[in-house]
Amino acid sequence: MSATARKSAPLPDDIRDMKGGAPIVSLTAYTTPMAQMMDAHCDFVLVGDSVGMVLHGLPSTLGVTMDMMVMHGRAVARGLTSAMMVVDMPFGSYEEGPEQAFRNAARIMAETGAAAVKLEGGQHMADTIAFLVARGVPVMAHIGLTPQSINTLGGYKVQGRGNAAAALMADAQAMAEAGAFSVVLEKVPATLADEITAGIPIPTIGIGASAGCDGQILVVDDMLGLFTAFKPKFVKRYASLGTDGEAAIAAYAEEVRARSFPAAEHMFGDTAPKSKP
Ligand code: KIV
Repeated sequence: MSATARKSAPLPDDIRDMKGGAPIVSLTAYTTPMAQMMDAHCDFVLVGDSVGMVLHGLPSTLGVTMDMMVMHGRAVARGLTSAMMVVDMPFGSYEEGPEQAFRNAARIMAETGAAAVKLEGGQHMADTIAFLVARGVPVMAHIGLTPQSINTLGGYKVQGRGNAAAALMADAQAMAEAGAFSVVLEKVPATLADEITAGIPIPTIGIGASAGCDGQILVVDDMLGLFTAFKPKFVKRYASLGTDGEAAIAAYAEEVRARSFPAAEHMFGDTAPKSKP
């Protein structure tokens, strides 16, 4: 599917059908202007719970709430016409059981217009995913490094190395069998990501995984150089908006202090300019 040829947003089934075809392009977004910038270029846009760290200055994604996801989901939806929107389920909104997960997924879909939700977890979340899918909630799964579990994973480590590879492959298979329409693979060895991609019937979306995945995703503030607190190895910076923005703000501050801004063209005269006949 080419983003430029598309007239309306794809559905989760369309994303599933992209398995093995042209790479699926996706980014995160949290605001309307960002969503507008990427709409024509992405197949889907994820309102990630990374919003907590990237926009709200939280130390991890654990403090992100349902209200935050709904608010940012609504903002992103206003900026999209041709890309599909997926919204993350925040920590604590789905782990208790299928009913809790359905209640919160339904709220996200109803209040934001999201086509699908994403949730973290492998085999232990399979029953919940099957429950959601059977009730009309398309699910994107997220395995490998699952940031909502950093306290039990021992930090932001690569997952699936050595003996852990078989368990990650089993997680991926369980996600596909449960009915997820795609699965994010975060921070896993490239060879394992390729094996998983070849071994399951749904698209893999890599972030710190492999160029052989069915698609890629990055946090937009990372790739634009807006979020600079740290830079994971898997991030490529395509722009330096953080340093450019700071230079612009410094120039503004200097001009205000020198009274060279505002200049004549930014100010109003006593009389209105004559309107043309
Ligand atoms: O929250 C997020 O931004 C994500 C992506 C990193 C996949 O889950």
